[in-house]
Amino acid sequence: MPTRRKTDHREIHRRRRSGDGHARPAEQPSDAIQMLQDQHREIERLFDEIETARGEIARQVAFDELADALTYHTTMEEGVFYPTVNVDDTHPWLLHAVEEHLSAKRLIADLLELGPDDESWQAKVEVLREQIMMHVREEEELLFPRVRDMMDEDQLEAMAAEMIAVAADVPVETPRAQLLEECEIAAHLS
Ligand SMILES: [Fe+2]
Ligand SMILES: [Fe+2]
Repeated sequence: MPTRRKTDHREIHRRRRSGDGHARPAEQPSDAIQMLQDQHREIERLFDEIETARGEIARQVAFDELADALTYHTTMEEGVFYPTVNVDDTHPWLLHAVEEHLSAKRLIADLLELGPDDESWQAKVEVLREQIMMHVREEEELLFPRVRDMMDEDQLEAMAAEMIAVAADVPVETPRAQLLEECEIAAHLS
């Protein structure tokens, strides 16, 4: 049975957050799709940061930041975006999407448990990146254009405000702790 890593990186996180504030999403309402796309780019950047990080502590800090960013992102998608855009023709794709989220959360839970000193850690990060990048591409190429067709600017802005509101319920100190509670079943679409 692997044991949870004891290393406390909270101080490093605090310094990083006060410096650049990557972990928390934007707090100004904008277009919901633009907001999610911006988060996708930030997630890609964090995967790059993990890849180039030197040393186990730096890799762990970058990965924790990625896990936090993904917690906010999935909270916004599962709590607001997916249920709001759940119509007949998007429903099958959304069912697929929440299963992909669940699979990613389980992998993230494994990675948080193991830590970068485990020999399988790097391989698991690569698999996570492949899975998430495929999921992101599908959202941006299939789902988002369909949502632009079904919603006007005001609706997209209202949805962005709702997404910001649900993100405010994520625990501020360790957002990823919430994700660890969501590894049993896929999110509901209503
Ligand atoms: Fe998603
Ligand atoms: Fe997404």
